[in-house]
Amino acid sequence: MTTLTINGESRSIKASPDTPLLYVLRDELALNAAKYGCGLGQCGACTVIVDGKAIFSCITPVMLLEGRTITTLEGLGNLGAPGPMQRAFLAEQAAQCGYCIPGVMMRAQALLNRDPHATDESIKAELQPHLCRCGTHMRILRAIRRAAEEMNSKTADARTRR
Ligand code: FES
Ligand code: FES
Repeated sequence: MTTLTINGESRSIKASPDTPLLYVLRDELALNAAKYGCGLGQCGACTVIVDGKAIFSCITPVMLLEGRTITTLEGLGNLGAPGPMQRAFLAEQAAQCGYCIPGVMMRAQALLNRDPHATDESIKAELQPHLCRCGTHMRILRAIRRAAEEMNSKTADARTRR
């Protein structure tokens, strides 16, 4: 049995160790934010964060993930208490069909965690692996900028209170 740490919780996984993480998330753990798009690492819909890096969960077997820290979109907040990235995407109405959005949010979160002041150019470059068939790219960019502003103002507030 494989044991994974997902969104801060330890989870025992029944699926065979060579099962891609995406199937385990959706079929075994009811964590349905990550989506199946291509299953080949070519669309970004299944993206989650592992040890701070955005990865394609559709091509990552769970046996490679023991002892590592996995974050899915559910780990960024929930309906009652959405996190800054989720609030920003809602405020900018960045989703049309929404299928690509969970993956985009996870890669954007990983980027802002390591570079809170990411430029538009670096956001665009980072999002290259993601396909959005609805063409909502400009709204996505605005949402990520908004999320960055909120995260950075919280960090600044916390510094001022110290
Ligand atoms: S479903 Fe994983 S990259 Fe397309
Ligand atoms: S919002 Fe539909 S694929 Fe991106």
